[in-house]
Amino acid sequence: LNPLVITIDGPSGSGKGTVSQRIAQTLGLRLLDSGALYRLVALVATRADVALDDASALAAIALNLDISFLPAESGVKAQLAGEDVSLAIRAESIGLAASKVAAIQSVRDALLARQRAFAVEPGLVADGRDMGTAVFPAAPVKIYLTASAEERANRRYNQLKAKGESVSLPRLLEDIQARDARDMNRQVSPLKPAEDAVIIDSSQMGIDEVQDAILAIVDKR
Ligand code: C5P
Repeated sequence: LNPLVITIDGPSGSGKGTVSQRIAQTLGLRLLDSGALYRLVALVATRADVALDDASALAAIALNLDISFLPAESGVKAQLAGEDVSLAIRAESIGLAASKVAAIQSVRDALLARQRAFAVEPGLVADGRDMGTAVFPAAPVKIYLTASAEERANRRYNQLKAKGESVSLPRLLEDIQARDARDMNRQVSPLKPAEDAVIIDSSQMGIDEVQDAILAIVDKR
């Protein structure tokens, strides 16, 4: 595959979003946050009162998304028909809705070409669930970044607390386990490491350490 594509897949809360941003920045590559695409479909559907199991309406939304990703201070800014929706798509409710629409094959098909179009020079870091297995199966560097559900719940807890939100740790753990189960057990493009992926468990690692480990893998290629 030419240009260089680095895929970083894993469950929510594994740190892959942050680490993908850093790797893209360090290596001067483009970034695809594929989860944002599913979140955008979920946002448009929710606003239009489209049922989250209406496959044909959701696929039409996915095909016709009028979006652009603009570089911003913290990664990229998502724009929907000119409106900045970066914050709106990060809501917990939209994440949950995204994981429902993401289980529909026709929605995934509708987003495939759009995702592949990100792979242009000077190269791409693709962050998601099925980047290495389905979207960029020929990518020369594939990472599967994971961490225990407990550790991921802890990280999320600390993030939310720092933002001043009151949250329950057991509740967060439950949500994470439910999202994992849905992402890993669905029929279409389930979350799993590609056969040729390097698996990194970040439970006991800081973000700098994870970044260095991935850069070392890229270097060796
Ligand atoms: O990564 P993020 O939490 O933003 O993704 C939201 C949801 O979108 C995930 O829970 C997952 O169900 C879905 N998703 C997916 N395939 C991807 C990226 C995200 O199914 N490549």
